This record gives sequence, structure tokens and C-alpha cells, in this order.
Amino acid sequence: MAPPDVLPRPLAPDPKSVRRRLLRWYDRHRRELPWRAPPGGTPDPYRVWLSEIMLQQTTVATVAAYFRRFVVRWPTVAALAAADLDQVLHAWQGLGYYARARNLHKCARIVAGEMDGRFPESEAALRKLPGIGAYTAAAIAAIAFGRKATPVDGNVERVTARLYAVATPLPAGKKRLRALAAGLTPRRRTGDFAQAMMDLGATICTAKAPACDACPLLSDCRAGRTGRAARYPARAAKKPRPVRHGTVFWAVRGDGQVLLRRRPPKGLLGGMMEIPSTAWRDKAWTADEAAREAPLAGDWRRLEGEVRHTFTHFHLRLSVLAARVDGPAPKGALWCPPKRFSDHALPTVMKKVAGHAARETTTAPAGHSS
Ligand code: ADE
Repeated sequence: MAPPDVLPRPLAPDPKSVRRRLLRWYDRHRRELPWRAPPGGTPDPYRVWLSEIMLQQTTVATVAAYFRRFVVRWPTVAALAAADLDQVLHAWQGLGYYARARNLHKCARIVAGEMDGRFPESEAALRKLPGIGAYTAAAIAAIAFGRKATPVDGNVERVTARLYAVATPLPAGKKRLRALAAGLTPRRRTGDFAQAMMDLGATICTAKAPACDACPLLSDCRAGRTGRAARYPARAAKKPRPVRHGTVFWAVRGDGQVLLRRRPPKGLLGGMMEIPSTAWRDKAWTADEAAREAPLAGDWRRLEGEVRHTFTHFHLRLSVLAARVDGPAPKGALWCPPKRFSDHALPTVMKKVAGHAARETTTAPAGHSS
């Protein structure tokens, strides 16, 4: 009889062996990261919390420098709580997702003001604080307090999907991966185990070219043992990002100052400064239609070209109307010379608009208001 053309399915991993091998590997190969306590040291919950909030949707490499600056400037939760929100938003510039910075500050005020400066230890209590979702609560409970908790991010999903060769594609497979990851979590050294999973996912069990030869868990790994690690986790086809359209108003006063405005506190880029903009919607704006939304009266002229920026959930295309205007800034807005834009928490998309408008208005000056 011909041999079967599929390899026999390896046994499921043994959680005890996974824990032992992974922790031993972590003891030798853990990454030196500025928020980590030294081996055997006591973690500072403030530093753990701050790093986990910064690491939401931002890479370790980017976060490290921000983290160092934050803890020098605000070494305790009480110090951060005493800071002005604007100072925090400004220091956060470049980390993106400003709702995180606003929640960070709100959370610091609650912990400093109502909890004696001590973070709660349980996942459930942590989750009640602003900016702390399921993942972050589990990470803080495990890393700062040694609670049995399993933070499951993309790295942990990938490692677990490979260990168990989970065929259900993401996102449908998430629930099962979460349960399997929880089943691996030890009672002791939970913080080290969580960080070991993160480090393994970031350095060896990587998305594109996993280094299975160097992996401490290869002998336990159903996907790795059959040379199929890169096929996991299976993913359902992605929906394409929709395109949204907006128009921004480059309003220049006689002395060269430009109108900036604070965005509403809730929603995308909430609380950050913007170059005033229409709503961002599915349908493109005509120049006439957009001009009716202008923050000041003026002879609005459309600049050549457009600004493109991609957010997590959509692509944005902005056209720019420019005018020379006079008069006081409307409520919630202010005049600012472009060279002082860096004094404000201006998001990347608005920096792109400023660059584009500056280039286009030097080649084709904006119209004068009458
Ligand atoms: N990603 C999220 N939290 C992390 C941590 N504590 N260490 C490394 N990477 C992380």
C-alpha cells in the first residue's frame, strides 16, 4: 500500500513542558526593556501600566524612548496625575491614538486621587480604569502583581496557534486560542511567562519567517514539527479599508499665522489640534460644498493635489482650501505661526496638511479676502 501523503499529526503540546522550556529560555534570552524589573526584582506597577498603555498599537522600538522620557519627567503616578493634560498630550506626540493619552491621564488621576496611588491588582478591577481593556488588564495583573492572568495579543495568538496547529482562521479562532493560551499559563512566574510569550513571538516565532531551529518549544509545537509554522495562524480574507474624504481650511492671517482648532474630546484624534476640517465621510466634497463649512469667511481657493493618510480602519483623502483671512479666531480656535506648530499636539495627518499647504501656497499664493 502507498504510504499516506500526510504526516501523522504530532501530539498536542504538554503545558508543563512548554512552561518549563519557555521560562528557562526567558532566563537566558529575555529582552532588556526599560520597563522591565531586573530578574528576580520587584516590578513597579506604575512602570508596568505606563509601558502597557504605550505598547497598545505601538512597537517596542518606538515606545522605549517615550517611556524613558515619561518616567524621567513623571516618575510616579502622582507626578503624572499632577501634570496638565496638554503637557501629557504634547509628550505623547508621535505615539498616535491620542485617546490613549487622555485616558492615561484620567487613569493616573483616579489612581493617585482615589486609590492612594496604588493600582488595583485584579484583572476585573483594573478593567474598570480608563484605557485598560482585557489585554492590558491581564498584562498588568500578571507582570506587576504575579496574578494568574493571560494577556493575549497578536504575538501570543500566533505562538499558540502554531503550538496547537489551530486550523480555525482568525478572527473566528480567537476564542479557542485564548482558552488554549490560558491553559498554558503557570501559577507561578505568570509575569515572566507572559513576557516570555511576547519575546518568543517578537524574536523567534515571528509572523513571516519563524526561526523554528532556534525555538525552545519546537519539540512541543504541532506546526513547527511538521515544518508548517508559517501557515499559522490561519486568517480569513481581510476586508479592504474604505476611503474617506474631507476638506481642510488653510486660513492664513496677514501676519502669516494660521488658524488651528481643537478637535472634540471624543472620537478619532480626540482633543488634538487640527487645521480646521470638514467631517470625514464616504463621499468626496466639492469645493463649494466644503466652503460652506469654513471656520471663517474668505475667498477660499482649492490648492493643487491632496493629502493622503491611512488610519487603522480607513484611508483618508483631504483636499485643501486656502484663503487669506482677517479677524479674531472663532471659539475653540487660535492663530499660530507655522514654525510654532510643534508647540501643539498636532497629529501626523495634520503635519502632512501643513507641509502640503506650505508648499502649494508658496508656488500659488492663496486668494485675498475682500
Ligand atoms: N508588548 C506588550 N506588552 C509588552 C511587554 N511587557 N514586553 C514586551 N512587549 C510587549
